[in-house]
Amino acid sequence: MSNGNRRPVAAGNWKMNLLRRDAEVLCQGLTGGLPAKLEGAGAADVVLFPTATLLTTVARQIQGSAISLGGQDMHPDASGAHTGDVSGPQLADAGCGWVLCGHSERRQDHGEDDALIGRKARAATDHGLLPLICLGESGNERRAEQTLAVLRRQLTAALASKPASFEIAYEPIWAIGTGEVATPEIAQQAHAFLRQTLAELVGEERAATTRILYGGSANPSNVADLIAQRDIDGFLVGGASLDSGKFLDIIDVCARHRG
Ligand code: PGA
Repeated sequence: MSNGNRRPVAAGNWKMNLLRRDAEVLCQGLTGGLPAKLEGAGAADVVLFPTATLLTTVARQIQGSAISLGGQDMHPDASGAHTGDVSGPQLADAGCGWVLCGHSERRQDHGEDDALIGRKARAATDHGLLPLICLGESGNERRAEQTLAVLRRQLTAALASKPASFEIAYEPIWAIGTGEVATPEIAQQAHAFLRQTLAELVGEERAATTRILYGGSANPSNVADLIAQRDIDGFLVGGASLDSGKFLDIIDVCARHRG
């Protein structure tokens, strides 16, 4: 199945950026530009992942638009004594339909391991959220030719607890926030490997319909060549998603893509 049969996703990961006023301005720029950008195509999912404190502000701003909302992380428990954490039901209550699980900055900053990420992904679907499971190798792992082994380990662990549904984001750590984007060939090789591994884990059919996004220095000048690859189904965008013009251009490329 070519990626023409999978609806592309343009996802904005705002990370720990913006105050409420900035978020309002950014959302207004996006909702104002969106109809024109999607006109005649309309075939892309657009999701924003703001900091937890901005969720209700963003939910209000994007109401009635084609934009969906997601959390950047969640605790696997539904409630309880977990100071500083946010739960799946709380994200859903704030208007989220999606949640990031296992972003490399969570793995690095908070010591999240593969097993915990698997539990989060399962808890997400138990609470009606769609997990966007993030994985990718470090520069050292790539140089040591460990890339495929790392991807297989991360993907297997993330799916061990059998989340009911999921999408994947391949984010090589060496490309995140560095300006050093993966070449289309390197990204396609990783995406194809992930899809083949998915087929082993969850069957051909689900592997063929799962969206695998690329993340790591994606910007308007490199996304067209990336999405032209057979197994690349959209983008998880950090830095460029904080600029409405740049993110709208990325949405445009996704929406016009026809496999
Ligand atoms: P970047 O971040 O686009 O700024 O490289 C991507 C991500 O970490 O999701």
